[in-house]
Amino acid sequence: MSTTIPDTGSNTTKESAATKPNKGGLEGIVAAATALSKVEGTVGRLIYHGYNIHAICRTTSFEEVAHLLWFGHLPNVQELSDLKAHLAEARTLPPQVAQLLRLLPATTEPMDALRTAVSAWGALTIEGKATIEQAIAVTARFPVFLAAFHRFRTGQEPLEARPELGYAANYLYLLTGQEPKTEHVRALDAYLVLLADHGMNASTFTARVVASTESDIVSAVVAALGALKGPLHGGAPSKVLDMLNAIGTVENTEPWLRNALAHGDRLMGFGHRVYKTEDPRAEELRAMARIADPTGFVLARHVEERAIALLEAEKPGRRLYTNVEFYSAVLLASVGLPGDLFTPTFAASRVVGWTAHILEQTKNNRLIRPEADYTGPMDLPFVPLNER
Ligand code: ACO
Repeated sequence: MSTTIPDTGSNTTKESAATKPNKGGLEGIVAAATALSKVEGTVGRLIYHGYNIHAICRTTSFEEVAHLLWFGHLPNVQELSDLKAHLAEARTLPPQVAQLLRLLPATTEPMDALRTAVSAWGALTIEGKATIEQAIAVTARFPVFLAAFHRFRTGQEPLEARPELGYAANYLYLLTGQEPKTEHVRALDAYLVLLADHGMNASTFTARVVASTESDIVSAVVAALGALKGPLHGGAPSKVLDMLNAIGTVENTEPWLRNALAHGDRLMGFGHRVYKTEDPRAEELRAMARIADPTGFVLARHVEERAIALLEAEKPGRRLYTNVEFYSAVLLASVGLPGDLFTPTFAASRVVGWTAHILEQTKNNRLIRPEADYTGPMDLPFVPLNER
């Protein structure tokens, strides 16, 4: 199913930025050149270094996509096996980081715990210019740190990573200590593939800005984590789950959504700065969610259809459709993840995109330093402190 509407013009080019009134938020501004991913907002297409996301998300593992983004090509069998081995070797939990995670209150948001752990690990480990080895090392730690915090907060000890498991399977194992179900691993792996990179989104831009100052890779990743956390970016999926739980039934959908819109609330999982049609990742996630949780899917699909119709009625011409977060919530819940792990799990995928962008920025660097329109007063007469 596709909820597209006719193209009424690109919003991602320099040309459109010049002809549209400036709404702020750097909308339509080209901030970097990248060979990593291309987001085509009016046709709803996402390309990873030449490959349409629809062509690769069901057949390619997260590690293959990481190889594509870090090394610029899909791996052969040997290259994939080497990358998996490097990631597996790097899945360690330094005792200082473990101690830090143990000390955090159980009520700490997992996203804050992850940011703290990555930062501490960087202080212990990272120096010098960003390298692919560092990108692999930091990426491999994301699931380890997240799972360790989750186990501490639930009164359990962290587990040793299992080198024979892939990235997705190992994450599920580290969280639960149980053999992950094949269908859960497959769903999570496809999710991780879909979220790995996405043009000049807010967190990627943040990472590139920090990298452009010649700061280190971990500082750039930690800054990106901070940007991802907000609900207008990666912080939405747990709120989608809250919304679906609050709605509860098909009958309650329409009044609940109408009430939210009447109060000026944003419907989580809808709207996107670049996509003015359906997000192609939402299409893939919807298909997976339908299989993963047929019961929950019925309500989610109904909410989606009603939300799009009401947004069109209440916000005509804004072109608000389902974004990646809506079915991410349904899918991640079906895999057994608690809601507050949704955003850090998104981060465990996007860290590949961030680090690939940091490496790309570092390779051909120029300090990112835009200007601002000054709107304050001018030429005020100075009055010394004791005369004010
Ligand atoms: N619900 C209700 N109204 C909305 C929504 C929404 N989800 N999204 C946008 N609008 C409305 C705004 O209120 C605004 O209305 P107005 O013109 O009457 O003032 C209009 O649409 C345009 O909104 P902007 O804020 O200019 O759109 P922007 O491009 O800045 O926003 C964003 C994109 C932040 C994603 C927005 O659609 C939103 O807040 N969505 C809900 C949160 C969400 O789903 N976040 C995840 C995004 S996907 C990701 O980052 C991985």
